[in-house]
Amino acid sequence: MLLSMPFFDECLRRYMKQATDVFNDWAHRGKDEGMERGHSPAVNEMLEVAFQRTNQENEPFSFADLGCGNGWVVRMVGGLENCIQADGYDGAPHMIEKAKNTDSKHGYHLALFPDMQPPQQYNLIHSMEFMYYLHEPQQMLQSIHDDWLAEGGWAVIGIDHYAEHEESLGWPEALDVHMSTFSEQEWITMWNDVGFTEIYAWRANQSEGKPGTLAIIGKKGQN
Ligand SMILES: C[S@@+](CC[C@H](N)C(=O)[O-])C[C@H]1O[C@@H](n2cnc3c(N)ncnc32)[C@H](O)[C@@H]1O
Repeated sequence: MLLSMPFFDECLRRYMKQATDVFNDWAHRGKDEGMERGHSPAVNEMLEVAFQRTNQENEPFSFADLGCGNGWVVRMVGGLENCIQADGYDGAPHMIEKAKNTDSKHGYHLALFPDMQPPQQYNLIHSMEFMYYLHEPQQMLQSIHDDWLAEGGWAVIGIDHYAEHEESLGWPEALDVHMSTFSEQEWITMWNDVGFTEIYAWRANQSEGKPGTLAIIGKKGQN
């Protein structure tokens, strides 16, 4: 009997670990701090590009980080003078607990995606190394565009697991966690399909022999 692909998908869903469980354990073991060090060069570049495009007038803006881990990006952006609100959302309880214990100024919320509906809309949404853990990242991207972003708002997202990054293709097996694998062009198409405008994609923190983070930015609203 031939077994269908959806059947295999369903089996994998059931037997692979949940990403939030893996990262909850990482938070207990202090591995969130290594992630922060590892991701910060790409994130700094992504935010630099975001601020060049989105906020040339230094206007007040609200910010949310989806899959925020221990909240380090929320604290960094929340510390900017014209950031009027910065919130982080993550599905790993210990990541959120750590974020709250370190910082009482900003909002940290335990939230499982894609089910979580936003309590409000934001001017800038950031996400680093989170989207591909979802089984249907396009659905999340649509929700970021439709539900999470205010009109005229921007999203900037970083992804290290993508088809052109060959080394990353072994990560699902190594971590025993589902990852949705798409090429650079497939991600860009997704951004177009859900309605983003002014889409720009580049490789952040790229150097010789290092493919870099696939970074994509886009706007909700007309060009
Ligand atoms: C690779 S870590 C990145 C954390 C942070 N963005 C950073 O750069 O340090 C991925 C994060 O996404 C969160 N995550 C993964 N799948 C999730 C889901 N379905 N709902 C909510 N959070 C999720 C994990 O708990 C984890 O903290």
